[in-house]
Amino acid sequence: MKHVLIVGAGGVGHVVAHKCAQVRETFGKITLASRTLSKCDAIAVEVKNRTDRDIATRQLDADDVPSTVALLNELRPDLVLNVALPYQDLPLMDACLEAGVDYLDTANYESPEEAKFEYSHQWAYQDRFREKGLSALLGSGFDPGVTGVFTAYALKHHFSEIHTLDIIDVNGGDHGHPFATNFNPEINIREVTAPCRHWENGEFVETEAMSTHQSFTCPEDVGTYEIYRMYHEELESLTKHIPTIRRAQFWMSFSSNYLKHLEVLQNVGMTGIEPVTYQGQDIVPLQFLKAVLPNPGDLGASTKGRTCIGNIMTGLDKNGKESALYLYNICDHETCFQEVGSQAISYTTGVPAMIGAKQMLSGNWRKPGVWNIEQHDPDAFMTDLMKYGLPWTLREMDLAEARRFSGK
Ligand SMILES: NC(=O)c1ccc[n+]([C@@H]2O[C@H](COP(=O)([O-])OP(=O)(O)OC[C@H]3O[C@@H](n4cnc5c(N)ncnc54)[C@H](OP(=O)(O)O)[C@@H]3O)[C@@H](O)[C@H]2O)c1
Repeated sequence: MKHVLIVGAGGVGHVVAHKCAQVRETFGKITLASRTLSKCDAIAVEVKNRTDRDIATRQLDADDVPSTVALLNELRPDLVLNVALPYQDLPLMDACLEAGVDYLDTANYESPEEAKFEYSHQWAYQDRFREKGLSALLGSGFDPGVTGVFTAYALKHHFSEIHTLDIIDVNGGDHGHPFATNFNPEINIREVTAPCRHWENGEFVETEAMSTHQSFTCPEDVGTYEIYRMYHEELESLTKHIPTIRRAQFWMSFSSNYLKHLEVLQNVGMTGIEPVTYQGQDIVPLQFLKAVLPNPGDLGASTKGRTCIGNIMTGLDKNGKESALYLYNICDHETCFQEVGSQAISYTTGVPAMIGAKQMLSGNWRKPGVWNIEQHDPDAFMTDLMKYGLPWTLREMDLAEARRFSGK
């Protein structure tokens, strides 16, 4: 009977708690801890109603390492599953090291003071985790997460070398609000307003945010969307671990309405992360903006449509012949809501977090050290995606079309 401690009772935490509760044979005991206890309790009531399972709840400020260590020593969980914010990654890894507990997250560390995320901070824990015999899995959401597993799977079963990688994240859903973000607004807006970086012949090339875009027609009638090139954290780990990749890009769909609102908010200074003094109090504009925007966790009831996230990859197949693949998942917002009461963005993050935790708790992926998801064998994870709500499709693609898309 394994015990998982989930940290973070937001949109993703809601899904993770439900999905872990569904997989009784792996997750024998579940505790949900977060800054606001009432949010944990509300999720526990929903989990009980949907799955008839009891989950324990605790209040925790995960920035406070001694408090987290005390909680870990009291509960002795087998794994900390971090779905709080990227700011909490390092304090939670410190607490896990001190208490001797394995660790998993879905987003890499970022300092609140600087909107720039990179893996160096977490990779620096490699020796300490290995020496203590502990295991950490970084980035077990969808992107990063499933996109890395898709790449590892294509490399294991189809390619001998991958040369280009284009990750395409389309949200074809409509939530009915003039402006809202799909996940934590502060983290989301920091990500999309940052300069774009893509991998080109051994180095990252920086371009202006949102300056490169193209139209993309998703399979299975999801629709045609304008997708924008932006930086995303898995580009850093994938190009490090798969050095044959010559060009790697990440694309995300945005509606013109979203971009119009974002431009205005940027122009008036509402997306800034430097504190401003208002009536004698220091306020971070972006944090204030988060407080007035819709809570992404509440968008489920109104969101209709589907997401389509996947990888277009080109390279040499196992016979040395140039070829192209498209590997993707399509997820329906309304189906997710019926199952767990959440929209598809939280769902597509929460399900892979549960599956990554399952691989670790079963021992399949439990090796000492700090690992990105593509460093593990992808097969059992791919099987579990099919089983637990994120079925995938693998298609051979026309090579010329894939190259044109990638800009090669
Ligand atoms: N890989 C992917 O595909 C992917 C996709 C989407 C999101 N994500 C990541 O998933 C994570 C969760 O996103 P979300 O949309 O669920 O965010 P969210 O709705 O804002 O939830 C975050 C939760 O963390 C809690 N929290 C914040 N600071 C804390 C602290 N110091 N101690 C304890 N709890 C704390 C918050 O507590 P309060 O409620 O009290 O504020 C909130 O309940 C983020 O790191 C995000 O970047 C990954």
